Amino acid sequence: MKEQMKNKILNLKADKKAVILAHYYAPAEVQELADHVGDSFYLAKIAKKSAADIIVFCGVSFMGESAKILNPEKKVLMPDLTADCPMAHMVAEGKIEEMRSKYDELAVVCYINSTAELKSKSDVCVTSSNAIEIVRSLPNKNIFFIPDRNLGRYIAEQIPEKNIILNDGCCPIHEAISVDELKDEKAKHPSALVLTHPECRAEVLALSDYIGSTSEIINYAKNSPALEFIICTEEGVAYKLTADNPDKHFYFPKTRPLCRDMKLNTLEKLLHVLETEENEVTVDGDKRASALSPLDKMLDLAR
Ligand code: 13P
Ligand code: SF4
Repeated sequence: MKEQMKNKILNLKADKKAVILAHYYAPAEVQELADHVGDSFYLAKIAKKSAADIIVFCGVSFMGESAKILNPEKKVLMPDLTADCPMAHMVAEGKIEEMRSKYDELAVVCYINSTAELKSKSDVCVTSSNAIEIVRSLPNKNIFFIPDRNLGRYIAEQIPEKNIILNDGCCPIHEAISVDELKDEKAKHPSALVLTHPECRAEVLALSDYIGSTSEIINYAKNSPALEFIICTEEGVAYKLTADNPDKHFYFPKTRPLCRDMKLNTLEKLLHVLETEENEVTVDGDKRASALSPLDKMLDLAR
């Protein structure tokens, strides 16, 4: 049954000249079928240069929106249009305008995990794999970093010469990773290295051996001579980690971090959108035009 479904997806994809992009947090069987699997930055770059007629984005709405903004002439579909990132909305109404009037020469730096509306009011976008490089390169001393206070605080620690103003948003999944559960895992596996996403709380980062985006965590584990790792990010990365490193062991905190929105990207829904071409992502013209500039700036600065 599953095999039949997978074959149908692959045949439809070829017939319709579609490309399937999946984030590392998507279900393993979707990652297995996708043409490109990666972190937010890699997928944005792929979306920008894709020659396919249809992009099927197995991620959450800010990813589908970004693909559409970068590639407006393409049809961008999502298996489930309700797959959304709660953090993408976590900037209070009027906050950006308030900060712009309060601080001179302020740059509003927007984590890509944000709505098109928020991007359209920002100066530059970043992802967790390029945020430090991009913020450091900006001429502005005052930076308002939205929406993630955890990534913002981590960047501020790396770039003390900037005045980084934090916003009170966070990823509920990474925020919930417990220091006590991490300590328990460390006690059980004393030789394991702790690899952590910067969306986690400061106490979790303080116990980590390496901090990076999903791709950076995956690359680190592959290149490290260590054989055991405790992973502090969403459990979807386990698929790639175990595929790349069959002889290494990966452990997660006891309450396995799981993003329910990412898991809405099932094989059944992927097949359905390829068959029907429903669930098209749209971004209205004005918003698209003003959200394009910060995304393009990110792609330029991170080169
Ligand atoms: P990266 O893929 O950039 O590491 O971001 C993680 C994330 O939370 C995406 O939703
Ligand atoms: Fe958003 Fe967190 Fe899910 Fe990523 S893991 S999509 S940041 S809720």
